[in-house]
Amino acid sequence: MTNLLKILIVYYSQTGNTEKMARAIEEGAKSVVGFNVEVKYFVKPEELAESDGILLGAPTYYHDMGRDMKNLLERAAKDELNLKGKIGAAFGSYGWSGEAPNLLLEIMKNRFGIDVVEPSLRIKYNPDTKGLEECRKLGKTVAEKVLKKSLKI
Ligand SMILES: Cc1cc2nc3c(=O)[nH]c(=O)nc-3n(C[C@H](O)[C@H](O)[C@H](O)COP(=O)(O)O)c2cc1C
Repeated sequence: MTNLLKILIVYYSQTGNTEKMARAIEEGAKSVVGFNVEVKYFVKPEELAESDGILLGAPTYYHDMGRDMKNLLERAAKDELNLKGKIGAAFGSYGWSGEAPNLLLEIMKNRFGIDVVEPSLRIKYNPDTKGLEECRKLGKTVAEKVLKKSLKI
């Protein structure tokens, strides 16, 4: 089927913690029927524009989000991608300060006009059972918001 609603989860992860979050978010989004959910590490900026829901995940390293995610957002801005009104959320694992997910959310909201779920989902180091449940919940929330928007309710 070609006209399924699409949710794209893009993450960056060095030691796998944010990746675990991304996989649990995928499960949550897939629990809402009628979605094409993709989890990717690298995407072309256009793929953001082709999605109805966008979840971006980055761990915090040196108080920042990492080069790969920055490049993606810089290219999306340079290409003047229109992401206004899409549904979005940000997440990431962290150790002590956890800036990256908040930076992501800020850019999604204020630079691209994405309708974001607030606050960002931040989990300290390796997500435990409760953390993974929060991730599933976020995936489900984004999917439900996308669905509502598509039905205009
Ligand atoms: C070199 C290095 C720098 C880090 N810098 C920060 C930091 O500035 N703030 C923070 O909250 N956590 C920091 N951390 C902790 C990581 O965010 C944490 O280990 C996280 O779980 C990594 O996620 P990942 O497994 O998805 O890569 C740092 C870790 C390393 C190894």
